[in-house]
Amino acid sequence: MQNPESKKPAIVIFASGSGTNAVKLIEHASMNNTYRVLRVFSNKKNAPVLEKSQTRNIPTTIFNKEALYKSDTVKDQLEELKPELIVLAGFMWIFPQDILAEFPQRVVNIHPALLPKYGGKGMYGDHVHKAVLENNEEKTGITIHYVNEKYDEGKIIAQYETPIAQQETLDSLKQKIHQLEHKYYPIVIEQLLKGQHA
Ligand code: GAR
Repeated sequence: MQNPESKKPAIVIFASGSGTNAVKLIEHASMNNTYRVLRVFSNKKNAPVLEKSQTRNIPTTIFNKEALYKSDTVKDQLEELKPELIVLAGFMWIFPQDILAEFPQRVVNIHPALLPKYGGKGMYGDHVHKAVLENNEEKTGITIHYVNEKYDEGKIIAQYETPIAQQETLDSLKQKIHQLEHKYYPIVIEQLLKGQHA
């Protein structure tokens, strides 16, 4: 008999940082039972996301530039796992063209600003929030988008905003953005898996 678990749509996650978004994606999957997280991939061997995933029983793969860009090591694993979506959660490298071609409109990223503002090479993590504060923006937010061959330029799937307070600091802004990401990323991923986004 086929394991009913294997009928649920599946994702893999690429993350290289603290992994708070990866954890929310994993926890949402286990609480709601609507999708499976097959594996977490990371290009940083000491990234906290690795331990956080393992303690939640998600297998991990560590890879380097060579494995991603100059060989089929990562691509072969993805072809074997056959995820419906490849979900980037704090992954900062350009995604290779050959994998994008294998998974058209199936690689998704989250960015901590309202694209097309504050996107592009070098615009990640704290750099984004510092630039937003320096420019005295009245609002910022998050963007969930498909990944293409350029940094932060793929088709936008969803955006969520938050106002910037007069006394906003880097830490308070980071916290606001993380709250939005944690709340919406798992929901949007689930909706995408159900075909609820164009
Ligand atoms: C998130 O805020 C995400 O939007 C950002 O990295 C952080 C990872 O946090 N991604 C980018 O800046 C992509 N350009 P996490 O490791 O706690 O999930």
